Amino acid sequence: MSVLKKLNIGIAGACGRGASFKAACEAVGFVRIHAVCDVNAEALPAAAERLGADEKYTDYQTMLARSELDAVILGTPMQFHVPQAIAALDKGLHVLSEVPAGVSIDECRRLVAAAKAGSGVYMMAENYTYMRANVIVREIARRGLFGAPYYGEGEYIHELKGLNEVTKWRRKWQTGINGVTYGTHSLGPLLQWMPGDRVESVCCAGSGHHYRDPRGDLYENEDSCVMLCKMAGGGLVKVRLDMLSDRPHAMTNYQLQGTDGCYESARAPGEPNRIWLRCKREKPDKWMDLSELADEFLPEFWRKGAEAAAKAGHGGGDYFEILDFLDAATGKRPPAIGIHEAMDMTLPGLVSQQSIMQGGAWLDVPDSRGWQVRTGKGGAE
Ligand SMILES: NC(=O)c1ccc[n+]([C@@H]2O[C@H](COP(=O)([O-])OP(=O)(O)OC[C@H]3O[C@@H](n4cnc5c(N)ncnc54)[C@H](O)[C@@H]3O)[C@@H](O)[C@H]2O)c1
Repeated sequence: MSVLKKLNIGIAGACGRGASFKAACEAVGFVRIHAVCDVNAEALPAAAERLGADEKYTDYQTMLARSELDAVILGTPMQFHVPQAIAALDKGLHVLSEVPAGVSIDECRRLVAAAKAGSGVYMMAENYTYMRANVIVREIARRGLFGAPYYGEGEYIHELKGLNEVTKWRRKWQTGINGVTYGTHSLGPLLQWMPGDRVESVCCAGSGHHYRDPRGDLYENEDSCVMLCKMAGGGLVKVRLDMLSDRPHAMTNYQLQGTDGCYESARAPGEPNRIWLRCKREKPDKWMDLSELADEFLPEFWRKGAEAAAKAGHGGGDYFEILDFLDAATGKRPPAIGIHEAMDMTLPGLVSQQSIMQGGAWLDVPDSRGWQVRTGKGGAE
């Protein structure tokens, strides 16, 4: 594929989350939103116009069959990510999929098999890993200044009861299942701050059921689900997911502890992100504001893209993930969150759903790197 040719992108879920990739695609420049797809036939024409798409489809398979695409972006509800990704990978297309990568371990196995077999790039759009503060912390961790990181916390606290009634898939796939159903925003950055580590086993417990939906039914998801992750390197990570409790949002709460430093993100708007690093000769009881370290640790790619990123959303995440994906699709470098990193971020949550059903039992999290691809029908084993 010539790098000079504009990459033709098809966006699925174009009337919802899919539409939010427009600003990033425009800023990057060498892509064209060629086709859009959404089952909402009424809203589709306006979405196609807004996104400047040449073609529009109400059926995903028809878009893949008829449209001349190089890549697809999947902004559809969670349960469609795997089937739509596999269909595109089987056609040799590149895939950028919204989070999480899949909704069951079995389908994740099939996805890994398809990603390994296909010629296209698979990347998961874990945009929180690109947020400015998270990128600064990642760079500090990459340079080893936390020493050995051994404890982390991530929380996604986002009251979504009303949204469940508008985007009804959420009532089934996010709040209709117990355990961590939406954990990649919390786990994703933490895994990047513990380079080379992965979650080996998890246990999960919940805080009970204190809210009902408008039909009077209790949510199957407990109000706060806490997943403890035992890391392969011996450390511990705590993930809290809460999509039900009445309270202000707090989707980007993080903590990291290492032998030579620690980090605590702001817990409320206006508060600073706090860091302590031994190498900065600070006393152990004295915090620095993370922003004081931006000049030294904010990577060049983020500085260069800051203006374009500001237009895209999610603290820059929605821009930089597109940039990374397109770099991967054009062969410049491997995807930042390729198939195995996507599994590292997705599988612990899926296993937590089994753990909470088994009274919080510790259960092993599979490592997708060890999944064999069957040559016959049926995908990975
Ligand atoms: N990374 C983030 O920050 C972030 C933010 C919001 C949503 N998301 C993810 O994006 C996805 C969509 O979330 P949303 O809030 O936009 O939901 P939504 O329901 O508002 O939008 C989804 C869109 O997909 C369309 N759709 C449904 N089934 C389809 C199908 N089979 N083929 C094509 N189109 C289909 C719907 O009509 C709708 O327009 C979810 O997976 C969610 O987890 C991620």
